[in-house]
Parts: sequence; structure tokens; C-alpha cells
Amino acid sequence: MSRIAYVNGRYVRHAEAGVHIEDRGYQFSDGVYEVCGVRGGMLMDEELHLGRLQRSLSELRIPMPMSLAALRIVLREVVKRNEVANGMIYCQVTRGVAPRDHPFPPAGIKPAIVITAKRLNEARVAAAVEKGVAVMTMPDQRWARRDIKSVSLLANILAKQTAREAGAYEAWLVDPDGFITEGSSTNAWIVDKDGRVVTRPLSADILGGITRHVLLEAAAREGIEIVERPFTVDEARTAREAFVSASTAIIIPVIRVDDMVIGNGAPGSTTMRLRRAYAASGVLS
Ligand code: PDD
Repeated sequence: MSRIAYVNGRYVRHAEAGVHIEDRGYQFSDGVYEVCGVRGGMLMDEELHLGRLQRSLSELRIPMPMSLAALRIVLREVVKRNEVANGMIYCQVTRGVAPRDHPFPPAGIKPAIVITAKRLNEARVAAAVEKGVAVMTMPDQRWARRDIKSVSLLANILAKQTAREAGAYEAWLVDPDGFITEGSSTNAWIVDKDGRVVTRPLSADILGGITRHVLLEAAAREGIEIVERPFTVDEARTAREAFVSASTAIIIPVIRVDDMVIGNGAPGSTTMRLRRAYAASGVLS
């Protein structure tokens, strides 16, 4: 089966899909994206992802490329055409194609949209969940509007690469005051000495993760206390448990922060309880 992408109104073979060289996403990172998990062929937390897409676009004053109703149909069609049961869908919207110039192009330029889908490497995710992963702390070098899911991910990818080269799965980014903001592509969580689950509150410092949002609701239902407050690198290194959250893998336990082993070096019980709580909300098998 060949992969199919949706590009500006057409379904095309993934291998041949392309965008214009003067797409402002390509030249200026002038665009936003969403990554939505797919389970059993269904989009997980679809409305929350669509809501965040609309918000990111509106913060950058990029119009929606099509109605929400049309977008829902196209998203389903891309999942179907790619025969993705468990995986993810990627949707990117840029300000469109115009001669390279820093100011916004004249009104009437249509935003450009690309949608792709791919299968999840389930064995790899299962192994990471079972064993846990290492994270490495480093300075957060991103811009000041991390709440916008911008395709401008240069600081994120450099951080991720640094972590990977050091044998860690994820980079935990640190603000100038020594507090963790989030991971390079995940939200960051710890269980503190008192057994409370801690994650940084929403602000422009972090992306408002959809998984983070759903986990907060699931935890409340299960009676798991979560405190939204910033936590330091030292707290992370000496935490009882730690984990990361993102749409594709939901929760991955963290068993090492820099050179410090977390807990007994195995995924923590509260972490796994939260993972089950998320599953109980019906979107994770
Ligand atoms: N990353 N923080 C950052 C910086 C992210 O890029 C992501 C998601 C998250 C978690 O958000 P959510 O729970 O909505 O997936 C937090 C996606 C998966 C990516 O860039 O591929």
C-alpha cells in the first residue's frame, strides 16, 4: 500500500507530494501544526486538537484553511486511505505561498494545508513504557510563545538531538530560574516527595498539551491529586517518579534525570496508575 498525503485540496502519493518553494512555512516557519493520536482508526481527543489548531492559527492571524466540518472529513479520509489503525495524524497549516517578504502577504492569499498519517511503532512505544526512559536537562532556548504550536521547532530539535547523542530519550528544558518548562516534544511531570503529581501550570512558557489536559481530568476522576506548579531541576533529579506526556505515546515513565536514577529505576506506580486512568477514559487500549 502506498502512503497518501492531503495537500491543498488533493490526495496525492506521499512520495510525490510537495509544496511550493515560496510556501511561507518553508521560508519563515510561518505556520502551525497538530499531531493527533489514532487508535482503532479513530482520532483521539479530536475536538481538543481542533480547538488548539484554531487557537494557534488565530494567535498568528492565519485563517482556517477550510471549515471545521470539512477538516474533520479530510482527517478521517487520510487515516482511512493510509489504513492507519494505531498511529498518528499530522496536520500543518501555513500562511500560504507568496513572494518572499517579511510582512504578511496581501489579504486573499490562501493558507496552505498538508495532512499526513503514519502508523505507530507499537513495539518501540511498549518497550519505552515498560522500561522507562532517561531525560537530560538543558537550557530552554525557545521563543517566548511556546503556547502556540508553531512549526518553528529549531530549538526543540537541537535539544532533542543533544539528548539523543547523550543516550537520553528526551530533553527537559530549563528556564533561567532553574525550573523545568517541558520536554522538547512532551510535557514534563514528576511525583514529588509527598506523593503529589506535579506539572507546570499553563502559560506562554509551555505548550498546553492535549494529553496533559486529558490526564488532569482523568486524575481528578480517579482521585489522584495533581498540583500545577513549576518544579526545579533539583526536584526533578530527586523526584519519586517522573514521566512525560504527548499525544502519540500518552505517558512514558522517566527513570533517569541526567545522572540521577529516579525511584528504584523502574516505572513508578502513580505514573502507571495515571496511564491506566487515561486508558479508562476510553481512548487508549
Ligand atoms: N509534540 N510540548 C511540546 C513542546 C510538544 O511538541 C508536544 C507535542 C507536547 C505534548 O502535547 P500533546 O499532548 O498535545 O501531544 C508538549 C508533538 C507530539 C510533536 O511535535 O510531534
